[in-house]
Amino acid sequence: MTAEFLHKRSVPEVKAEPFYLPSGNEVDIFAQCHAQNLAVMLKGPTGCGKTRLVEHMAWRLGRPLITIPCHDDLAASDLIGRFLIRHDGTQWYDGPLTQAVREGAICYLDEIVEARQDTIVVLHALTDHRRILPIDKTGETVKAATGFQLVVSYNPGYQRMLKDLKPSTRQRFVAMDLDFPSARHELTIIREESGADYSTAHALVSLAHRIRALKDRGLAEVPSTRLLIATALLVEKGIPIREACYAGLISPLSDDESLVGAMRDLVDATFV
Ligand SMILES: Nc1ncnc2c1ncn2[C@@H]1O[C@H](COP(=O)(O)OP(=O)(O)OP(=O)(O)O)[C@@H](O)[C@H]1O
Ligand SMILES: [Mg+2]
Repeated sequence: MTAEFLHKRSVPEVKAEPFYLPSGNEVDIFAQCHAQNLAVMLKGPTGCGKTRLVEHMAWRLGRPLITIPCHDDLAASDLIGRFLIRHDGTQWYDGPLTQAVREGAICYLDEIVEARQDTIVVLHALTDHRRILPIDKTGETVKAATGFQLVVSYNPGYQRMLKDLKPSTRQRFVAMDLDFPSARHELTIIREESGADYSTAHALVSLAHRIRALKDRGLAEVPSTRLLIATALLVEKGIPIREACYAGLISPLSDDESLVGAMRDLVDATFV
């Protein structure tokens, strides 16, 4: 049997500018990290804009973007690649990480804490001065092409007691803490993403702030900017605002009757 090596597959480019409204200096820090070959870690609650920031930066820096959602079944070979048997022999297929390393893409590992330690460890030689990816199965050592950057993200509030990154992994990244945007910024984002008018967006933002305050009363997940946009889109399509809030904002958050009741009361008080 012969072994062939397949390296070339085209990596998706981010063609149109993804809208991203910065809350602080995250765009500048990200760009500096890119210029200095530093890996980036984005921390923040679900729906706060981590993925959108990466998409925007890939466009801004003119780099292709490869996104890998992490889970506890993700093996090192899923990232690096594997030999596949074909009718005429065995062929090596690059995994998405190897592809990004060869082509100088931004490689975004989403929810990195979900990945197993033996998978995460393959990132180590890429995130220090070596910038290499050793591929044990082929004996090749791939040097990262110019423009390659590793970006990881996770939600620090979620399963923190169960899962954490090792210090030897954490200290290979420049980390940025993202959070929900300020009221003024969130209003602009909702309007931009949904086409909602000022008063609808304004009312949704004030409602979100009241619901987020319920965190102290046991609400595990508070409404994200993503949920506010979904609700605004329903309103834009003609769903009455209270019903849109029940379906788009309240129901996704909790099954607990008393919490749902408290949130519905807030909706009713906001839209009398
Ligand atoms: N700063 C921002 N500028 C523009 N859009 C934003 C911003 N923050 C959030 N959004 C909007 O909110 C949506 C959700 O954001 P995004 O998907 O980036 O969240 P996330 O932090 O990656 O969440 P998850 O942890 O669940 O993956 C985006 O699709 C976008 O519409
Ligand atoms: Mg995301």
